[in-house]
Amino acid sequence: MSSSVHQATCSAPVNIAVIKYWGKKDTTLILPTNDSLSVTLDQDHLRSVTTARADASFGSQDRLWLNGEEETIKADGRLRRCIDEMKKLRQAKESKDSNLPKLSEWAVHVCSENNFPTAAGLASSASGFAALIASLAALYELQPEVSSSELSRIARQGSGSACRSLFGGYVAWQGGEQSSGQDSLAVEVAPQSHWPELQALICVVSDAKKGTPSTAGMQRTVQTSPLLQHRIKEVVPDRMVKISEAIQKRDFDTFAEITMADSNNFHACCLDTAPPIFYMNDVSRAIVQLVEELNRANEADGKGKLVAYTYDAGPNAVLYAPKDNMPRILQTIRHYFPNADFDDTFDLLGKGVNASHRGAQEALSLPESLPSSFNANVIPVHEAGAVRRLIHTQVGDGPRVLERGAGKESLLNENGEP
Ligand code: DP6
Repeated sequence: MSSSVHQATCSAPVNIAVIKYWGKKDTTLILPTNDSLSVTLDQDHLRSVTTARADASFGSQDRLWLNGEEETIKADGRLRRCIDEMKKLRQAKESKDSNLPKLSEWAVHVCSENNFPTAAGLASSASGFAALIASLAALYELQPEVSSSELSRIARQGSGSACRSLFGGYVAWQGGEQSSGQDSLAVEVAPQSHWPELQALICVVSDAKKGTPSTAGMQRTVQTSPLLQHRIKEVVPDRMVKISEAIQKRDFDTFAEITMADSNNFHACCLDTAPPIFYMNDVSRAIVQLVEELNRANEADGKGKLVAYTYDAGPNAVLYAPKDNMPRILQTIRHYFPNADFDDTFDLLGKGVNASHRGAQEALSLPESLPSSFNANVIPVHEAGAVRRLIHTQVGDGPRVLERGAGKESLLNENGEP
């Protein structure tokens, strides 16, 4: 393949909100009813990779493949809007410099893949749309003239939470006031390097039945939940300020307290929806009880919180904790939830930790370093596989340009197909 083809390949990370986005005031432009804030996770572990190519020979039709399957780009759909907005930015650049190839007039072929299976139960729309926007921005050579916040405004129109995956570290989505959506975009609260010790443990909880998709669920909440109105007006504005301060100070106690309270408030709004929406299940709730007991006991020892939980539109728990606490937390989770598929591939714990228990059927013993008054009977040891899989990761950076031109990273072949 020639490197003179007009192509770029980028990767983008997953983000998990600590102040949740739930509700739109404009469903087409995707304007949220409240601000939200998230932590970007390390894309060495979880990521979407996208190749975008523009070619005069592609004819008039843009095409897109997702994990090998071609998707229809619906007129008026989210993909269409994102691609059109990116072409407009390219056109503006071309109109200022007539020497530039007219990429904005050519069709694009886009191929996107996630490195995590959908079966992992993780939402991929955020990293997927962020990678789409990042790869088109690289293809069209838009940066640095166009900022990441401006790109986030376009990613937002693909999937709301995607706008936050345009940055690494700690990221706020400012909902904005304007009906045009011009001021609804993501900003960096703090870079990854400001607080790199924060780690995440994703507990993938078995769930046979599919839940209510977030896009539909949140609008039902907007239409029927009085509690959501209180959340929008009173709860979130105050928490946005306080959690941003906690991040600036690397104050894990406050960060954890607000994160858990906001997850609970969001799920309370789901319960307040008519008919009610249930995302958490018995295993999710057992993890809440365990985390609350760990924190209570540690605070009784005169120390702060050990760990925080948060839940999105599904039963999986995401646990946030400082690096030093994670080995204890991981072993505790593996004690109560035996036989979860876990491989410390990334070796965040250091060589050999728990290695002898990899794939072990029997429950691991509790770690010795738990707080003195910890009540080991707070929840029972669950049946093997109640937590299916554990993914251990950490705060990470924003989208990466993996390659300009068509080389070894390309997801498209010579003909511009997967
Ligand atoms: C619970 O971003 O998936 O994860 O904008 O309709 O695509 P759309 O919704 P989406 O909703 C995410 C909801 C959430 C909370 C969050 O990520 O803030």
